[in-house]
Amino acid sequence: MRYTTLLIGMSVAMLSVVGARAQEGDATAGATVFKKCAVCHIADSDKNKVGPSLFGLFGRTAGTHPGFSYSTAMVDAGKAGLVWDPASLKDYLHDPKAKVKGTKMAFVGLKDDTEIANLEAYLKQYSK
Ligand code: HEC
Repeated sequence: MRYTTLLIGMSVAMLSVVGARAQEGDATAGATVFKKCAVCHIADSDKNKVGPSLFGLFGRTAGTHPGFSYSTAMVDAGKAGLVWDPASLKDYLHDPKAKVKGTKMAFVGLKDDTEIANLEAYLKQYSK
């Protein structure tokens, strides 16, 4: 009788515990996502580049960073009440030109909600 390999399968049960940690957003992973923005934006200091600094973004009314020359579309969006928070940012990143029609931000958008959650966790480090 061959009963040598009967007990090997026991370790399989550990595989099911992996999926539960994506909701909160991971700032380290977000730093990687931010590379898509970093050609145009800085988040860890208050300097404008091609785009306005994203330092202290959450809570900011759209189109109001000092010293940046926004499109009238972005300024008008701010006047109409657009304030950056995780929800409005997610909307904007899904499709910038749909959320702020006429924005001069030349970015196709970010579709993946996990990437956006991670990016938000990253940006939160630099907001109050
Ligand atoms: C090709 C350059 C470019 C890239 C890439 C880019 N942006 Fe922008 N972004 C801009 C410009 C330019 C503006 C100003 C838009 C306007 O005035 O209409 C802007 C505006 C913004 C604003 C509004 C800020 C404010 O002060 O109202 C946010 C938020 C923003 N970008 C986030 C992001 C994020 C997050 C990414 C990466 C996922 C990103 N952007 C990628 C160029 C870029």
